Amino acid sequence: MGMKQSTVPFTGTSEQKEALLKVIAEHKNDKDALMPIMQKAQEIYGYLPIEVQSIISDEMGIPLEKIYGIATFYSQFALNPKGKYKISVCLGTACYVKGAGDIFNKLQEVLKISDGECTPDRKFSLESCRCIGACGLAPVITINDDVYGKITADDVEKILAKYE
Ligand code: FES
Repeated sequence: MGMKQSTVPFTGTSEQKEALLKVIAEHKNDKDALMPIMQKAQEIYGYLPIEVQSIISDEMGIPLEKIYGIATFYSQFALNPKGKYKISVCLGTACYVKGAGDIFNKLQEVLKISDGECTPDRKFSLESCRCIGACGLAPVITINDDVYGKITADDVEKILAKYE
């Protein structure tokens, strides 16, 4: 099974690792504690990259494949951090029929990341979402609290430039 690395270089600190080891030590030999430990780990690091999963795997004696399987199955776990600017592209029906797919593809192409990923400099993260209740503005994307409606793929670079 191929395991996906985060798109962002790992920068975990020794303080974070210490905090994680402490959590794990509290649950040593309790295999049912895996989910709560993974949740705590995500709180400590802000996301759950392979490097952190490996620490849990080593310390708990649980295969990394199993931890990775859980981390990718449950949407509460994120393999990538959020960017300083969080881009959401609405792929709800109204937006989709008005070309949201092209906008999403353009964003992936320009930022060189795909759904759920973050640029290596942690500036932009990209995700698709369902209807955000602004169908009158379709197609809609949001960047943090900013809303952009009735846009086309050709507007993408101009919009991103505002955050440079
Ligand atoms: S479908 Fe995009 S805002 Fe409703």
